[in-house]
Amino acid sequence: MQAVSKRLGHQFSKPSPAIFSHQSIYPLSDQCYSADRPRYTSTLTTKGVGHLVRKGTGGRSSVSGIVAAVFGATGFLGRYLVQQLAKMGSQVLVPFRGSEDSQRHLKLMGDLGQIVPMKYNPRDENSIKAVMAKANVVINLIGREYETRNYSFEEVNHYMAEQLAMISKEHGGIMRFIQLSCLGASSSSPSKMLRSKAAAEEAVLRELPEATIMKPAVMIGTEDRILNPWAHFAKKYGFLPLVGDGSTKIQPVYVVDVASAIVAALKDDGTSMGKVYELGGPEIFTMHQLAELMYDMIREWPRYVKIPLPIAKAIAMPREILLKKVPFPMPTPTIFNLDFIEAFSTDTVMSKDALTFDGLGIVPHKLKGYPVEFLIQYRKGGPQYGSTVSERVSPESWP
Ligand SMILES: NC(=O)c1ccc[n+]([C@@H]2O[C@H](COP(=O)([O-])OP(=O)(O)OC[C@H]3O[C@@H](n4cnc5c(N)ncnc54)[C@H](OP(=O)(O)O)[C@@H]3O)[C@@H](O)[C@H]2O)c1
Repeated sequence: MQAVSKRLGHQFSKPSPAIFSHQSIYPLSDQCYSADRPRYTSTLTTKGVGHLVRKGTGGRSSVSGIVAAVFGATGFLGRYLVQQLAKMGSQVLVPFRGSEDSQRHLKLMGDLGQIVPMKYNPRDENSIKAVMAKANVVINLIGREYETRNYSFEEVNHYMAEQLAMISKEHGGIMRFIQLSCLGASSSSPSKMLRSKAAAEEAVLRELPEATIMKPAVMIGTEDRILNPWAHFAKKYGFLPLVGDGSTKIQPVYVVDVASAIVAALKDDGTSMGKVYELGGPEIFTMHQLAELMYDMIREWPRYVKIPLPIAKAIAMPREILLKKVPFPMPTPTIFNLDFIEAFSTDTVMSKDALTFDGLGIVPHKLKGYPVEFLIQYRKGGPQYGSTVSERVSPESWP
């Protein structure tokens, strides 16, 4: 723990009193609604800790028994996960580090008192313990696909996950720990981010062998960070840069399916404990095919500029070189993110024998249709306008 604390830039301190005072209220089976009252027992697997209090018919105003500390809830996946957890009557603890605005939208997703925002500092262990004190589930969605002046990939993606796992272990009342990794995370990946995610998986499983690891592919949805930047760029400059020849294969997944997979894992009979799931969508796309889907939705004529890999890297490189050298923050990279370019220089699809959605009883959505409908906001003249795909004819075919 001390080693991780040092890497995270703070000193290890004594376990917070909150944890110890909390431990006394576990196991919850001592409560009046317990395992001997089957109607109220939860399906949340507890492995020796006992069953949870569960009341109601399973809707937003019920009590699922789950008190989930969702680290990284203020991000893209967070909003869909918090919504699903709240909808089944769970209490969700939302640690946030920025302004109050970063979590305001989440508060509306649950009944009064169900969503609890808690200010914390990821480098202050006691504040993490305070967040976890009343939790029985920890879900780690913290992650970043670019480095900043303050945070390296290792710190955000690896050490923070390791620290959460260690604190959960020490807590003693955390029944489920779910770690969000990435499809393609491996110690041999060309991407630094994916290497740090692989290290996080290893560290989490070392601390908590019963943790569940979810490895989603690129997530698609209203706030995604692939189709949105592409559509924005295509609208602004009239073309889309395609790294390489656009033939790299990916298996994008609808963000809501990933949230459902996490909730399904929490609700199962414990079969997902200690397992690694790869969450890819039902179709494999090349980058070019995905870009075509985007163009279809925004009703623009597809125009591409193919950028060879070394040139794309050269365009992205100055930010990485200057990042730690200049005394001001560098712009957030979007399309020319060096790590993104490295990550997608090779095919990233699910392995054949991987555990996936069907093991969790979920049928993932195809992207074409509702999952990419948000792109209509980029149509020229408004959502109802723009030329349709059927009107797309090449100028040579004009009479
Ligand atoms: N998006 C994808 O396509 C994709 C694909 C595969 C896997 N994943 C993984 O799935 C998880 C969730 O993804 P997402 O798209 O929801 O991520 P996101 O939108 O980037 O959100 C990341 C979350 O991590 C927090 N975070 C980032 N840096 C932090 C730091 N230094 N200290 C504390 N918190 C920090 C953010 O908090 P702030 O709001 O305070 O910044 C935010 O809540 C991540 O682990 C990601 O790596 C994502």
